[in-house]
Amino acid sequence: MRHLLAIADLERADIERILERAEGFAEVGRRDIKKVPTLRGRTIVNLFYESSTRTSSSFELAAKRLSADVVSVKAAGSSVDKGESLKDTITTLSAYGPEAIVIRSPDAGAADLVAGWTEAAVVNAGDGKHEHPSQALLDLYTLIRRLGSLEGKRIWIVGDVLHSRVARSNALAFGMMGAEVTVCGPPTLIPRAIDEALGCAVSHDLGGLGEADVVYALRMQRERMRESFIPSIREYVAGYQIDARRLGPRQLLMHPGPLNRGVEIAPEVIDGPNSLIAEQVESGLVVRMAILYELLANARPRPGGGRAADSEDVPAPTPIKEPA
Ligand code: CP
Repeated sequence: MRHLLAIADLERADIERILERAEGFAEVGRRDIKKVPTLRGRTIVNLFYESSTRTSSSFELAAKRLSADVVSVKAAGSSVDKGESLKDTITTLSAYGPEAIVIRSPDAGAADLVAGWTEAAVVNAGDGKHEHPSQALLDLYTLIRRLGSLEGKRIWIVGDVLHSRVARSNALAFGMMGAEVTVCGPPTLIPRAIDEALGCAVSHDLGGLGEADVVYALRMQRERMRESFIPSIREYVAGYQIDARRLGPRQLLMHPGPLNRGVEIAPEVIDGPNSLIAEQVESGLVVRMAILYELLANARPRPGGGRAADSEDVPAPTPIKEPA
């Protein structure tokens, strides 16, 4: 694998390899010293043009646990504020010779563009409404650890599917691993022809939710809504909120975060016995370590990149000549 841009680019074997690797890193996480030297001397840039807590912090920690040097740049406070374009920003950061650039952008397709502008491996950490592949991989890891396999499992993805890159990546990933996926939400928040595009079923009400083995609630993405998609939050809650009344005792509950408590999900189920939400966050670290390992540890050195220097390789300083 050269980049991680979309679940749609992956084969099932790629996913299985990353998840197995993540399991190995989970073992490292149980040691006293949780750091391995795998990416010593490699540089990773995290470039976030959109808000993030989970993805940005876990990619940064994943890189540090692998002993890479990490540069984290947020658009706010960087030269993006002064009008620097994405391409110029990538050219600038590429001058430091990073082996990987992790990018989050509000624009669909941004990560693909970046991959064309740099020698570094590119990880899509979420691009507009398009994809969020590392989220899908950590959700697979979480579910497979709990269920053993997704073969034949029924997964309902409920809520604002229209604005959700998680819904797109996860429906593809869950389907690839053998699950039967249904997306559910008000007609205004379900993209047309999504069933054909993602190979899933569509429901506009929660009447059939009882069949689900897993209920995956989506955040209402009000920051992406330029018009009114629902009559009111009150009516949305009445029709689609996942609460203790709707969630059966054998059903697992997931949510990518951040949570709108009391909107798409009721507070009582967030910390309830069916909830995998805290495990999802925990999985993010080891899965992102596995992604960086997959892209960098086996990669051939880039032309002129050379290998990482050990301390004995550092040349003696050249004496400064006194002026004649
Ligand atoms: N799930 C997710 O992408 O969360 P953050 O926006 O906090 O990274």
